[in-house]
Amino acid sequence: MDKERIVTQMSLKEDEDQSLRPQTLDQYIGQDNIKEMLSVYIQAALRRKEALDHILLYGPPGLGKTTLAQVIAHELGVQIKITSGPAIERSGDLAAVLSSLNPGDVLFIDEIHRLPRFVEEVLYAAMEDYVLDIVIGKDHESRSIRIDLPPFTLIGATTRFGDLSAPLRDRFGVVLRLNYYDIKDLENIVRRTSKVYQHEIAEDAVLSLAKRSRGTPRIANRLFRRVRDFAEIIGDGIITKNITDHALSKLGIDHNGLDHTDYRYLKAIIERFSGGPVGLESIAATISEEITTVEDVYEPYLLQEGYIKRTARGRMATEKAYQSLGIKYYKGLFQDESK
Ligand SMILES: Nc1ncnc2c1ncn2[C@@H]1O[C@H](COP(=O)(O)OP(=O)(O)OP(=O)(O)O)[C@@H](O)[C@H]1O
Ligand SMILES: [Mg+2]
Repeated sequence: MDKERIVTQMSLKEDEDQSLRPQTLDQYIGQDNIKEMLSVYIQAALRRKEALDHILLYGPPGLGKTTLAQVIAHELGVQIKITSGPAIERSGDLAAVLSSLNPGDVLFIDEIHRLPRFVEEVLYAAMEDYVLDIVIGKDHESRSIRIDLPPFTLIGATTRFGDLSAPLRDRFGVVLRLNYYDIKDLENIVRRTSKVYQHEIAEDAVLSLAKRSRGTPRIANRLFRRVRDFAEIIGDGIITKNITDHALSKLGIDHNGLDHTDYRYLKAIIERFSGGPVGLESIAATISEEITTVEDVYEPYLLQEGYIKRTARGRMATEKAYQSLGIKYYKGLFQDESK
């Protein structure tokens, strides 16, 4: 049996805890650039008494897109309706959500890249002119009617910016990319989680957790809960560094925050494909993962941390990847395609 998985898309979502979600921009940790810009746009919209421009949030899972959408609605003092691309199957579904909005409300569409194309087309006019063009009746008896909508703010979220059609992308006035969090931010997130749960954690354990969270708040929170279990059962409740390190090694997460699948990925490139270059499809097949999961969940972090490189001919493992696996790296033996 595989050990517990930390970074898969499914397991990432199933233990979401609403109580951990920050409510205001101030409580939202990190992403300082984004917060600064949003704060200006929100104040300007409030002053003009207009709906905020449509916003597209993109970036890897668990970085706080849904949370940020809720924060924005809260700061605007409006209601938020939450739905997702795959949930809207017909244009009637979209019409129903849109016509339920009050002036200024936020409509949040998660996984917006998965919106069916004909639904997307209805969305264009709604975004641009706050109108809904719907066709009623069938064949030669069909006619189109136009319904006015209240001004609203669409917030779209996606892990796959590239999968969004150009016309949809262009209709967002604000496009924001969320980045992986640095250690300092993750430490603050862990401290905040400890306060919310009213569960004490030692300072050196905070750092240990932060370092192993793969730059991702959701993982930090998830690891916190696991480590808390260990502290309660094998310790006296307080999360110490010893307990943290013990628990994390049991979970198979090393000091870099990489987990089994990260290692299986790196091993595949190095052992099966001599370090690359190798295509995404071949790697995904080798480790029996979905191509999209590999591309959206695993690769962005490995790329950012410099374990792999993307070249015209495929992915390549870097010296750092070899080191992390304890495999000797021969410089010059492996052609560097990126130069
Ligand atoms: N900036 C932040 N400060 C504090 N906690 C955060 C922050 N961002 C995210 N979190 C925590 O991480 C959890 C995951 O965030 P969220 O669900 O918003 O991610 P997401 O980007 O929407 O992920 P997905 O792409 O899977 O939908 C939240 O429940 C929240 O507790
Ligand atoms: Mg989300």
